[in-house]
Amino acid sequence: MSLLDHTPQLTSVQAEALARDLFAIDGRATELPSERDRNFRIDSADGSYVLKVANSTELLETLEAQSMAAGLCADAAIPVQRQYRTVNGEWVAQFDGHYVRVFDYLDGTLLADVQPCSQQLRYDLGAVLGRVANALEGFDHPALHREFHWDVARTADVIAERAPSITDADRRVLVERFADRFSRDVVALLSTLPHAIIHGDANDRNVLVDAGEREQPAERFRKVSGLLDFGDAVYSVVIADAAIAAAYLTFDVEDPIGAVCDVVAAFDAQHRLTDDELAVVWNLVLARQCLSVVNAAVQTSARPDDDYLRVSEEPAWRSLARLLEINTDLARYRIRAACGREPHPNGQRIREFLAQSSPAPLLGTEWNDLRLFAVDLSVDTPLFGISEMSGTAEQGDAIMRSVVDGDADAIGLGGYGEPRLFYTSPAYASSEDPASERRTIHLGLDVWTRAGVPLHAPLAGVVHIAHDNDAPLDYGPVVVLRHTTPEGDDYFSLYGHLARETLAHVHVGQQIAQGEIFAWVGDSSVNGGWAPHAHVQVILDLLDLAHDYPGVGVPSQRNVWLGLSPDPALLLQLPEGSTPPRDRSAVQTLADRKRLLGPNLSISYDPPLRIVRGMGHTLYDDQGRSYLDAVNNVAHVGHCHPHVVRAGARQMAVLNTNTRYLHEEVLRYAERLTATLPGDLSVCFFVNSGSEANDLALRIAQAHTGRRDVIALENGYHGHTQALIDVSHYKNAGAGGSGAPEWVHTAVMPDAYRGEHRGYSRDTALAYAQDIGRCISEAEPAAFIAESMVGCGGQIVLPDGYLGDAAALVHAAGGLMIADEVQVGFGRVGPAFWGFVTQGLVPDIVSMGKPAGNGHPLAVVVTTPEIAASFANGMEYFNTFGGNPVSAAIGNAVLDVLEIEQLPQRAETVGARIVAGARELAQRHELIGDVRGLGMYIGIELVRDRQSLEPAAAEASYVIEQCKRRGVLVSTDGPLHNVLKIKPPIVWGEAEADRLIDTLDRVLSDSALGR
Ligand SMILES: Cc1ncc(COP(=O)(O)O)c(C=O)c1O
Repeated sequence: MSLLDHTPQLTSVQAEALARDLFAIDGRATELPSERDRNFRIDSADGSYVLKVANSTELLETLEAQSMAAGLCADAAIPVQRQYRTVNGEWVAQFDGHYVRVFDYLDGTLLADVQPCSQQLRYDLGAVLGRVANALEGFDHPALHREFHWDVARTADVIAERAPSITDADRRVLVERFADRFSRDVVALLSTLPHAIIHGDANDRNVLVDAGEREQPAERFRKVSGLLDFGDAVYSVVIADAAIAAAYLTFDVEDPIGAVCDVVAAFDAQHRLTDDELAVVWNLVLARQCLSVVNAAVQTSARPDDDYLRVSEEPAWRSLARLLEINTDLARYRIRAACGREPHPNGQRIREFLAQSSPAPLLGTEWNDLRLFAVDLSVDTPLFGISEMSGTAEQGDAIMRSVVDGDADAIGLGGYGEPRLFYTSPAYASSEDPASERRTIHLGLDVWTRAGVPLHAPLAGVVHIAHDNDAPLDYGPVVVLRHTTPEGDDYFSLYGHLARETLAHVHVGQQIAQGEIFAWVGDSSVNGGWAPHAHVQVILDLLDLAHDYPGVGVPSQRNVWLGLSPDPALLLQLPEGSTPPRDRSAVQTLADRKRLLGPNLSISYDPPLRIVRGMGHTLYDDQGRSYLDAVNNVAHVGHCHPHVVRAGARQMAVLNTNTRYLHEEVLRYAERLTATLPGDLSVCFFVNSGSEANDLALRIAQAHTGRRDVIALENGYHGHTQALIDVSHYKNAGAGGSGAPEWVHTAVMPDAYRGEHRGYSRDTALAYAQDIGRCISEAEPAAFIAESMVGCGGQIVLPDGYLGDAAALVHAAGGLMIADEVQVGFGRVGPAFWGFVTQGLVPDIVSMGKPAGNGHPLAVVVTTPEIAASFANGMEYFNTFGGNPVSAAIGNAVLDVLEIEQLPQRAETVGARIVAGARELAQRHELIGDVRGLGMYIGIELVRDRQSLEPAAAEASYVIEQCKRRGVLVSTDGPLHNVLKIKPPIVWGEAEADRLIDTLDRVLSDSALGR
């Protein structure tokens, strides 16, 4: 007879009667799922309860012991269900041979329903279970010393008894193999580990999570609000609670070991674990998954129609198959590292041994007698463009020779722990998901020298591996020597990128004496395609990876991999200072920035990014993590475009002076630039920033009209000089601002989404233009200054023809139109090239900035000859840097790239794809209120309610943080801080547009953004 045959049989009506008669709770019963018992939620006027009717095999003592364990946890302020007494003052009542109890119904979301489970939530779960371990320490009860089919310590026995119920033979073999491994590697150790009464079932349906406030997505689903069901409490190994909880967090996550690490580390912080506990935890995670599948198989065979029984079966099988592939030792090292232990238990001892050893010189000559160069190839190295490193081997070779000063006998040293970008082959990706980490952290030391140079064994060893890894960017011929310390610790030294002759010379098992020549440096035709060098790596555990042991690791596991591969400088005893110095830490950079730079500079993202390289549409942080850039419109034609960089460098090497001498470059630029503009806009003034351009534009307009007053748009931003703060409503009406002065007239923002007049029609435009009429009636204006699309206003697209309508009124009043194209100019809006063109406006003055120099400070004011003449009133216009030949060369190069790569056309098509994708998302994600944009200047406005348009600012900032985690940099803007701002370098293609939309789709599906 199975346990299931002892399940109580009762209806909801009977459950309601039991609650009323035995516990004086009058309410409606709804059945809750359960494996062995029957549970009902009872909703009464004074709250909700859970009525549990136990399986008839349950003993009263067991239930009492469970209640005692739960009580101890409650006393320790752990969120468990409170139990209620019967009307007779008993904890347990009886019904038809079953015990009946009543508990609190705890509110919260099941952990199983939280997507994704954040790292904070994993930590919190681990911490709660660590506190359970503390609360139950010293508690014991004979009823809980039982042979129980969910006790992970009994996994091998349970599999032996129950695996025959698994109908699929392959699956059965899978768990039986695990049972063998468990018996061999785990069982003996388990008996020595700390034991106690444990909760025993923190599965993701027994853990409730605090849903928090919808208005605070960053705080939602971060904390455990309930640990349910002590029904599986048992006397077992204490560590099992962490392993059981972690087992359910490994399903479908990219890094299952990482998920386990988080739970165990937080458990350990509450309840210190021993080395042996840390050693078994990974196998216990697998054990729990095996128990899930064998127990499910038994139950499925007894009740084939019961869906609940199968709930966790399929994902558990999938996960189990995947987890069984993972190297147990690697999991153990990672778990140790996560808990702040040395990843390899012998690490320190081996390092100490190496530090006091006397190795033979690797190159046969003492280091001090060689010409040594520290070679830095980290992410921000100025030495290489990535294209050069992944170019031909000869190129690499030539570059490397130039590093060591063309000196064929010089030796380059460096690379240990260095984040590098040139591991470009698919083998260095963690998965096909572009958001997943790539391996960038170099685990060995490179010794750059000539091909053919012989290598001498630093210490005696035995050839353990001799193999040709002949894939591109791999090691080519590689030799691994095994060494043993006098204390009996084995470790390995690996030498990669060798000459083929090496493999003819050595064989596995061969003894190599200290100082003996055993290998030669290979050339680029055999060594994976690199400039000749030897990669030397110390390895504490080969992890069964043999010749495929990684020489490069992912940044998130930096400490683990560097722990398993200590610094080869120890093995080689390199002289102090012969390898490149390390940067200050990111944490230190932040602290020093706060100290050294003005405090009102803002920093994006939390934690902030330390970006050290840009290329095309990608930014790289100091660990080589890449980010798709969706916000930096300054790097208009792509970060560090080689044509632009070369043009600047070339001119910088020849001449850089001011405009008091004649020079061709600036004229060429002025001619080309003005050729893109309509009407009489043909005279340039060169400046260095958008602010300078707008400041000068105002002066010119005021000089020409002899008036002072200026009209500007609500929420507009034009720059940081005093005059521009005065006209920038976004600043003067915002924090720290003191309002607009009397000469500035602020016109209503023509916001087609949330303004008084909605939509983009001509009627809307005319309605908003009336407010310009109001401003004109206040004073005769010198000018109306307006962005052609209003950035800080929330990526506002103006209603059709609004600026043209405004111009008619302003011109009629004798004023000028200043088009601020600092954000949107230079083809971002598409082939129209300038935003004002899309508005039917021919301005009198245009100010340009940001994209003009692709990051170089180049800005321009262009006006008509007539207006320029009025400005020349006798006072010289001089600008030290404006119009210098370097800036002009860069400006010309940007125009070259725009033309050659047809980027305005691309901005139009790719931008349209983003807008269409985002509008499709809006059909599935309520949070998206509006999608607007022209070309690659796009806003996605988030609202809590599409009727009231309540802004979703906290949600927007949550979205950009989560996008960042997924490797896409988006930002927020708008007076209500609820608009996602998308204005990438316009070199994006369809793939980047699709990645952005896919990322937003995933992020918007996050439970924290749900209702
Ligand atoms: C529309 C607009 N105009 C002017 C400026 C000022 O340019 P800069 O920061 O180069 O001085 C900005 C800067 O964000 C801007 O967005």
